[in-house]
Amino acid sequence: MDYEMIATETQGRVGLILLNRPKALNALCDQLMTELGDALRGYDNDTAIGAIVVTGSERAFAAGADIKEMQNRTHPATALDDFIGKTWEVVTTIRKPVIAAVAGYALGGGCELAMMCDIVLAADTAKFGQPEINLGVIPGAGGTQRLTRAVGKSKAMEMILTGRMMDAAEAERANLVARVVPAADLIAEAVKLGETIAGMSPVATAIAKRAVNRAYETTLAEGVGYERATFLSLFGTPHQREGMSAFIEKRKPEFS
Ligand code: HXC
Repeated sequence: MDYEMIATETQGRVGLILLNRPKALNALCDQLMTELGDALRGYDNDTAIGAIVVTGSERAFAAGADIKEMQNRTHPATALDDFIGKTWEVVTTIRKPVIAAVAGYALGGGCELAMMCDIVLAADTAKFGQPEINLGVIPGAGGTQRLTRAVGKSKAMEMILTGRMMDAAEAERANLVARVVPAADLIAEAVKLGETIAGMSPVATAIAKRAVNRAYETTLAEGVGYERATFLSLFGTPHQREGMSAFIEKRKPEFS
């Protein structure tokens, strides 16, 4: 697929996806989301890649779903078309770790896209918000659920009911992001983080991602049971032998 609204670039074992629709502050229209899904799937199936970074511009990670495209949507046609299920949810099906590197606005669907990723790294310029209430709607790509799980009910309610934005420092205090870095270092830091992850056992990485995500889906007992079963399954991999032998032999492990 030829991309018009995103750009891709491989840096070592990290697949970098740049949202690239600057005139609309990376508003997430159908075409952009289709291209993003295609690129994510491509990197997920590429054995040379161990982690993926999604980023935007200095001004905006993404200012939301495309309001001009949504304006004339009607119900039930939109429900039958299922545009959110068809394109947006692809992000949640990726097996490799996906890092959102956020500078500038991450609003509405932009904030939801960041929250669908596994790790959010924020520039000190980042601004997060769910302003859909100003448009007479509510978040539609998981915002009411993922923001609430990340920052708790009171702050999520305040943001979703008023549309107030959160700056990077508040987002870090509220556990919405893993870390805040200077804007100038954002991509380099995200790629470095991706490289660190890509250097681990790809089997352990994929299982760790799935196990952490289980915490959102199950009871504690079921989640712990899932963790135990998958932990034990890793003793059937050469990576467990390599990792533990390397520790004992005081050398760096080589996970192929
Ligand atoms: C379409 C958008 C857009 C969006 C910005 N633009 N956000 N176009 N959809 N979500 C366009 C503007 O129309 C304008 O184009 C250009 O980008 C620059 O934006 P400005 O508003 O002129 O910039 P600025 O004054 O700096 O304000 C930045 C901003 C503001 C605060 C981010 O653009 C804004 O409030 N945007 C909308 C944010 C929002 O409501 N997002 C939630 C969308 S609903 P022109 O051609 O006029 O110059 C959503 C639901 C998701 O995401 C549900 C799941 C699918």
